Amino acid sequence: MNDHHPTVRRLREEAAALCTEEEITALVHQFYARVRQDAQLGPIFNTHVDDWDIHLAKLVDFWSSVLRRTGRFSGSPMTQHAALPGLTADLFHRWLALFQETASTQPNQAMATQAVAAAQRIAHSLWLGYQLSRDPRTLPQALDLGQQP
Ligand code: HEM
Repeated sequence: MNDHHPTVRRLREEAAALCTEEEITALVHQFYARVRQDAQLGPIFNTHVDDWDIHLAKLVDFWSSVLRRTGRFSGSPMTQHAALPGLTADLFHRWLALFQETASTQPNQAMATQAVAAAQRIAHSLWLGYQLSRDPRTLPQALDLGQQP
């Protein structure tokens, strides 16, 4: 199905109606402001991110692609995260807890709900991929999405 197919067009239109670029920018900027101050996650990001303006712009593109289907993000999250030393399930739980806290304060709660659901799915797949990239012979552990510290 290409872009001109009515179903694709309808899905695009629905996704674009969910939220504005400004709402995504607010969510992303507020989330990373929390992350940078966090005792567990802050040091990891502050070690690996050289230019926060570039990182934030990339993450706005990412969430715009996820939530509004703009297709603006082109990156390789799996490879980028696989290269980070010492990631754990606890760190992913912490990431999700901060994301959920940030989402819960957004005026657009329809966007917040979709964003949290997508974040959980993506976090889960990144964590599975991370474990497999480190030790392909061991069955990866799932995240416990009901228990975020
Ligand atoms: C323990 C949890 C996480 C940590 C510590 C973490 C850390 C990082 C760091 C340090 C980078 C920058 C890498 C670099 O530029 O060298 C990065 C990139 C990124 N992260 Fe995460 N991350 C986590 C979870 C997530 C989750 C759950 C998502 C999505 C829902 C996500 C989405 C992204 C994206 C889209 C990029 C850019 C990738 C690219 O440039 O291709 N991260 N992350």
